[in-house]
Amino acid sequence: MPYIPFNRPSLTGREFEYIQEAVANWHISGDGPFTKRCNALLEETLGVPSALLTTSCTHALEMAGLLLDIQPGEEVIVPSFTFVTTANAFALRGAKPVFADIRPDTLNIDERKLEPLITARTKAILVVHYMGVGCEMDTICEIAQRHGVVVVEDNAHGLFGKYKGRHLGTFGSMASLSFHETKNFTCGEGGALLINDPRYVERAEIIREKGTDRSRFFRGEVDKYTWVDLGSSYLPSEILAAFLCAQLEARHEIQSIRKRVWEYYYDNLQDWAQENGVRLPTVPDYCEQPYHLFYLLLPSLEQRQAFMTHLKTNNVASVFHYLPLHLSRMGQHLTGDAARCPTTEDVSDRLARLPFHNSLTEGDLERVVGLVKQFHCAS
Ligand SMILES: Cc1ncc(COP(=O)(O)O)c(C=O)c1O
Repeated sequence: MPYIPFNRPSLTGREFEYIQEAVANWHISGDGPFTKRCNALLEETLGVPSALLTTSCTHALEMAGLLLDIQPGEEVIVPSFTFVTTANAFALRGAKPVFADIRPDTLNIDERKLEPLITARTKAILVVHYMGVGCEMDTICEIAQRHGVVVVEDNAHGLFGKYKGRHLGTFGSMASLSFHETKNFTCGEGGALLINDPRYVERAEIIREKGTDRSRFFRGEVDKYTWVDLGSSYLPSEILAAFLCAQLEARHEIQSIRKRVWEYYYDNLQDWAQENGVRLPTVPDYCEQPYHLFYLLLPSLEQRQAFMTHLKTNNVASVFHYLPLHLSRMGQHLTGDAARCPTTEDVSDRLARLPFHNSLTEGDLERVVGLVKQFHCAS
């Protein structure tokens, strides 16, 4: 049987045409017409004041760290169940991560555990909308406002997801997006910074352009450009922006394919899950998810490992997800043994993700579901 990979990037049709157009424009460095088209599409569809394409979600979060002027010793609260970047981007500026546990249902940062973690040194609360299902933003924003703390959304999974009718990425002062190969919309490696607080817009442009006012120079607002602030090279090439533009413009088509995949798994695995003590993803009815991934929570680590081996033996990939950051070597180095995140540890041991990409055929889905159902969890 042919191998079914966990992820496989796919084309929507116009990617190469747009790349050719970028070359024909004689503009393949950053911030050309395709970058502007992607920025404008994100600004208009999400309703954010400013969207800036970046070279990755990691770099968008590093920009957020610079924009917040994080000083050594300041603290940022981050979920322990997330990718390294969410904490590392701020640790690079000297911040100490303070790890929060997650909710057992959505696997998002547990807003009920936030308040005791806030101190006089807390600068920001980082939220990650796991699977593109919104964190409890009403409560989180209220807590942050009361304590004078900034909210930043790591929305790597959640472009076009909504919480109570409002797009993810529009709640925090800033938010990041990822266009890595594994995401719904991709250009291989890429990201964006969404800026909701207008106070950050001008400086973000400078930070993204190596600490210079080059963007103002290109707009004819200054007659030469120079070094005015800290910064780095965070803007992607037009070749990547052209590829991404084709994908973003085909967003409705891509999302309907992914919805079909997600619903196929969900509808066909419910009975098996119930019989085997396996939990399927939880999506509260006030959240619209963007169909980014599909996970199973097996009853134990041993059964998760046996399940993944069963799929692998039958030529189907499945992968676990984040390892708890509070137990990582760097997490321990920065925080000692301070954090207690039992739900993160438990979920990290038991979670397995099924193949999820835009080129899965009906036959692939049937085969994956058939194999999953062959697996029986020992009670
Ligand atoms: C929650 C989260 N944040 C950030 C990233 C990093 O994204 P990128 O590879 O675009 O830097 C990932 C990667 O998958 C992620 O899952």
